[in-house]
Amino acid sequence: MQKKLFLVHELREHFPILAQQVNEHELIYFDNAASTQKPRCVIDAISYFYTHDNANVHRAGHQLAMRATRSFENARSIVRDFINAKSNAEIIWTKGTTEGFNLLSHVIGTQLQAGDEVLISALEHHANIVPWQMLVAAKQIVLKIIPLQDDYQLDLEAYRLLLNNKTKIVSVTHISNALGIINPIVEMIKLAHEVGAQVIVDGAQAIAHVPVDVQALDCDYYLFSGHKLFAPTGTGVLFGKKHLLEALPPWQGGGEMIKSVSFSTSTYNELPFKFEAGTPNIAGVIGLGSAIEFLNNYERSALIAHEEILLLEAEKALLVLPNLHVYCAGIKKSGLLSFTVQGEHHSDIAMLLDAQGIALRSGTHCAMPLMSLLNNSGTVRLSFSIYNTLDEVKTFIKALKKVLLLLN
Ligand code: ALA
Repeated sequence: MQKKLFLVHELREHFPILAQQVNEHELIYFDNAASTQKPRCVIDAISYFYTHDNANVHRAGHQLAMRATRSFENARSIVRDFINAKSNAEIIWTKGTTEGFNLLSHVIGTQLQAGDEVLISALEHHANIVPWQMLVAAKQIVLKIIPLQDDYQLDLEAYRLLLNNKTKIVSVTHISNALGIINPIVEMIKLAHEVGAQVIVDGAQAIAHVPVDVQALDCDYYLFSGHKLFAPTGTGVLFGKKHLLEALPPWQGGGEMIKSVSFSTSTYNELPFKFEAGTPNIAGVIGLGSAIEFLNNYERSALIAHEEILLLEAEKALLVLPNLHVYCAGIKKSGLLSFTVQGEHHSDIAMLLDAQGIALRSGTHCAMPLMSLLNNSGTVRLSFSIYNTLDEVKTFIKALKKVLLLLN
């Protein structure tokens, strides 16, 4: 397919929400790690579905039901190609990454024994911590934490030492949503497989910022949310290798996930439906397909290079400001950076930036254990997307300088 030339101002035109003023300033949206904005085609796809095709999927033979099912399953094929999964059976719809973790910890948990070990890292989001803690309580499994080096990158040597024949699962983020660090997951997956452990990758932050090829990674499971990929909230994907998903029991019971039901027993549906009980978020999934098609219009490398420039320019400008600490400066990051200002509360800075039309997140970023390690109550996080511009970075730096003067 012929790709469109990436011109940031042309691309921005596709995102109607960006053309507004907030607090009498042009909106600058730097909270993309929390959720991305939606292009017009996604908004239109949802509207089209409800205007023309709305019906339940996989259930009836009437025209609307067939159209709804076709669009819904077409979205699954789009996702399959986007992450290079081998088959549609490996693409399970979820509400988002968090639901993916709850599903996996629950069904994998049924096969773990007391004393089995699950490894997560100190960089993890709560969604990759709490479900495992619940499993520790239920099954007496052992949860171990891969520590960080002084520069907050994962300590790979410690990881090697933690791996052993009791390690059943390694569950680790691809890119940290709090610091932007890119984990060496290819190497980590290889090492985990050497001891027979399976690897779950949290791709919530990575999916919009780096190409993901699940076959090249050789990960066993890869999770992401639609809303961080220009798609509606309440959509997500659990990729799993087919033979592993086949060996797992279903999670929720109900319609769609069964082949047959009697009062005494039920037989379960084939993949991917075995894990998709109940009526799914049909319009949302169609929106996710549309979001990926939108992204596919552009050369991915051009989008990635653009985001890298934004990040590097922001980091360079932040590093010369007094009393400001940029986390992981000089380390290759993706999509975001975090900073603190000595003596100032992160939420005051975020609030004063919001007054100037700049949206960003401050706080723990759903990574409280990591914040404890950083020894602070939170950071200010600047997170970019393909529609942000260098001018926005410059305006942000000016606005931040004003805030620093005001607080001084
Ligand atoms: N996990 C999202 C974030 O990092 C909500 O902000």
